[in-house]
Amino acid sequence: MEERRNKIRALFAAHDADAILTFSPENRRYVTSFTGSSGYVILAKEETVLLTDSRYIEQASKQATGVKVVLHQNNWLMTLKEQLDHLSVKRLLFEQDTVSYKLFHDLTEVLPDVTLVPSSGLIEIIRQVKDAGELAIMREAAHIADQAFTHILEFLRPGLKETDVALELEVAMRKLGATGSSFDTIVASGERSAMPHGVASDRVIQTGEFVKMDYGCFYDGYASDITRTVAIGQPSPRHKEIYELVLAAQLTAVNGMRAGLTGEQADALARDVIKAGGYGDHFGHSLGHGLGLAVHESPRVAQRSSDMLKEGMVVTIEPGIYIPGFGGVRIEDDVVLTGHTCERLTLSSKDLIIL
Ligand code: GLY
Ligand code: MN
Ligand code: MN
Repeated sequence: MEERRNKIRALFAAHDADAILTFSPENRRYVTSFTGSSGYVILAKEETVLLTDSRYIEQASKQATGVKVVLHQNNWLMTLKEQLDHLSVKRLLFEQDTVSYKLFHDLTEVLPDVTLVPSSGLIEIIRQVKDAGELAIMREAAHIADQAFTHILEFLRPGLKETDVALELEVAMRKLGATGSSFDTIVASGERSAMPHGVASDRVIQTGEFVKMDYGCFYDGYASDITRTVAIGQPSPRHKEIYELVLAAQLTAVNGMRAGLTGEQADALARDVIKAGGYGDHFGHSLGHGLGLAVHESPRVAQRSSDMLKEGMVVTIEPGIYIPGFGGVRIEDDVVLTGHTCERLTLSSKDLIIL
């Protein structure tokens, strides 16, 4: 944990800063191991301080090793000021993408002698590369999603509502040890499968259509995120054509994904295949995204992304084709970048499954 904190501290110099203030739940957990829902962290050069309230003080003291845990006053800003004074912080980084206008105003009032330095995604940059412990947890999160897929193949049949399928997936993951879903479960059937993010509705699944399922879980704080599309009954030639093209694009991207590419180059691995197949206009979203404590985090694996992919990053690979009024297909895996290749964390079959 101190190694992690030191990597973040090494980024202070570029901003001539003494500390960073964060209250993003993911960043708080990442730098302190505290899992409670409320707390403010000052990561300073010499010390890390976690301010929390009476509901969490015992838990924080147990979880946050190597961290000074402080019970904050009703107005936490007063305690913040005391601690910053104690640490002699003169220049304080804050996370400009999450601080509201009101909070910024309050901070300037309470801390007249501290220079507030805006930053973006600083801790998130260190979070991009996962260590062995994080990868072990993420393998299990992905394995739970894979097992839920095996289970749902037994359950899926015409006549069920999309919401029945979503609930079954979610319960299966919870029974397998997940603490919850990592986002609203997408089950989109028939023409609804043309909606890339068609969260499960009460539509009844019928024979002769696709069912696209995009779901995942949180396990020990880390997310998994998988999509599989299956056919209910015999698919038409058009269904098969689209499925095979998405699969070819996804396999090409998995085979070509490696450290050293930019997000844009990685995105192009799949996009070029779909464009060559004549469906470029039907693949509107990016190829993928970083995955970790948050289901969407950096790096961006997208057109015009200059983010550099590095060994140890976990990203999704999720090309799709969506045809309004007809349907759509997406296939998504989570992978960890290794030296010259990548390792899949989600291992469910990607052949067209006909139920
Ligand atoms: N379910 C959101 C995504 O795949 O990015
Ligand atoms: Mn997904
Ligand atoms: Mn995803």
